[in-house]
Amino acid sequence: MLNLESVSAGYTEENIIDDISLQVEKGEIVTIIGPNGSGKSTLMKSVFGLTKLRGGRIEFLGRDITGKRPDELVRLGLAYVPQERNVFSSLTVKENLEMGGISLPGGLKERLSYVQELFPMLAGRMAQRAGTLSGGEQKMLAVGRAMITEPTLLLLDEPSAALSPKVMGQLFCGIQEINNRGVTILMVEQNARRALAISDRGYILEMGRNRLHGPARSLLDDPEVCRLYLGRR
Ligand SMILES: Nc1ncnc2c1ncn2[C@@H]1O[C@H](COP(=O)(O)OP(=O)(O)OP(=O)(O)O)[C@@H](O)[C@H]1O
Ligand SMILES: [Mg+2]
Repeated sequence: MLNLESVSAGYTEENIIDDISLQVEKGEIVTIIGPNGSGKSTLMKSVFGLTKLRGGRIEFLGRDITGKRPDELVRLGLAYVPQERNVFSSLTVKENLEMGGISLPGGLKERLSYVQELFPMLAGRMAQRAGTLSGGEQKMLAVGRAMITEPTLLLLDEPSAALSPKVMGQLFCGIQEINNRGVTILMVEQNARRALAISDRGYILEMGRNRLHGPARSLLDDPEVCRLYLGRR
C-alpha cells in the first residue's frame, strides 16, 4: 500500500531523514519507534507532503506520490494526525469534524455518524469546544477528524502521548477497531511496547536512518531491542 524507497528529506539544507526505506502492506498496523529527535515525525510529514524531499520515491497504492500536496493525498485516501496542535480549540467538536470533511463531496452526515460510532465519547459532546476536552478526548477527536475523510491509510504521530494508562488503552482499542474495519495504519509511538503489541511489524529509526525492522513479535522478543528501545517492562 505504501512504499518508501531511499527517501531523504528535511526542512532547510540539512537532511533530517536520510535514505529511509519502508513498506506498509494493505491491512497492516505498522509502528515506527526510535529515540527523540530521530526523525519519526519528519518521516510522517514527508509521507504527507509536508517537507522538502531531497531524494527517493514514495508510492501509495502503486501510484507515485512523490512531491504531492497534502490536499491531493487526502483525495487519494491518506489521512494524517500530527503529533501536536491537532484540534481547533475554539471550535466545537462537531465543527472540528466538519472541518476535516470540508473539501470532500457529499455524505457529511454519514461520515459524522461513522466517527461517532468509532468514538462514542464524541457523540455526547458535539457542541463542546474542543479546547475544553480532556487530553484523551482531544486525541480521539483528532483521530476522528482524520477518519471523517474515510482514509485507506491512516498516519498517526504519537496518538497515545501524555495519556493515562486507561485512556491509552481506550485509544489503542479505537485504533484496533479502525484497523478491523479495513483501514491500514502507520503510526509513530513512544509507548513502543503497547504499540508493538497491536502491530504487525515495526521499524526502528536512529539519527534519521533505518536501524532495524521486522515482525512486531520478534522486535518485542529481541533482548537488544528491549534494552535499547523499549525501556523497562
Ligand atoms: N520545522 C522544522 N524545522 C527545522 N528543523 C526541524 C523542524 N521540525 C523538526 N526539526 C528537526 O528535525 C529533527 C528530527 O525531529 P522530529 O520531530 O522528526 O523527531 P522525532 O523523532 O519525531 O522526535 P520526538 O520523539 O521528540 O517526537 C530534530 O533535530 C528537529 O529539531
Ligand atoms: Mg515526533
